[in-house]
Amino acid sequence: MPASSDTSQILEKEPSEFIVPAIGAWPRFTPPLRIGIMASGSGSNLEALHKATTQGFLDASLRLLIVNNPNCRAKERAARLQIPWQLIDHRLHSTRESLDNALVSAFRAADVEAVVMAGWMRIVTPVLIDAYPGRLINLHPSLLPSFKGLDAVGQALTAGVKITGCSVHHVQADVDSGAVIAQAAIPVHANDDVETLAKRIQRQEHRLLPWATALAGMQWRREGHAEVQG
Ligand code: GAR
Repeated sequence: MPASSDTSQILEKEPSEFIVPAIGAWPRFTPPLRIGIMASGSGSNLEALHKATTQGFLDASLRLLIVNNPNCRAKERAARLQIPWQLIDHRLHSTRESLDNALVSAFRAADVEAVVMAGWMRIVTPVLIDAYPGRLINLHPSLLPSFKGLDAVGQALTAGVKITGCSVHHVQADVDSGAVIAQAAIPVHANDDVETLAKRIQRQEHRLLPWATALAGMQWRREGHAEVQG
């Protein structure tokens, strides 16, 4: 059989989502990771993290969700899933540092050892980054270092790329620029708009974020002595 028909058969069998994160054996942590979460949006990634813990994959307890927006759907999900949550309204803080100080106080009070930004739409400062050195990770809807910042999905469509994706990375002061922990790639279809592409990216985010948290967790526990004290 000619090589070309082999290729077309493969493409027909796997028409979409053809590069997904390599998920191996999920590590166990003793005690389970103590995770804080920050969200500004609908909270679907919060729910994915929760599902990964209740199904026994991600060995973690979700200690506290912080939202910055009173209308954020993530807090409704947290209430339904019985995850403790707190509103820290950014509009009540005159500086980014003041907001981040409030976040650090809340996470320390909840005794979290690491923080996951799952759709946090505010720029963070060294106040938060330095409180959780190497222990603050972010989810972004592009294959970093491409399409940093706002509207990453729209940026990818405008650029006309044929493959985009999502990344989980360590947070540093430059927006969306810390070391990448894990990524998933997603094809851009000719008829995609922001909504359809974002939806396919999110499906991969829901697999990627729990796995990347477990990967980062192995590193946090290797450096266990560096746990942040309140
Ligand atoms: C996610 O798609 C995440 O990649 C994006 O916000 C969405 C939150 O969705 N994050 C960013 O754009 C950060 N720059 P969710 O609220 O349904 O989890």
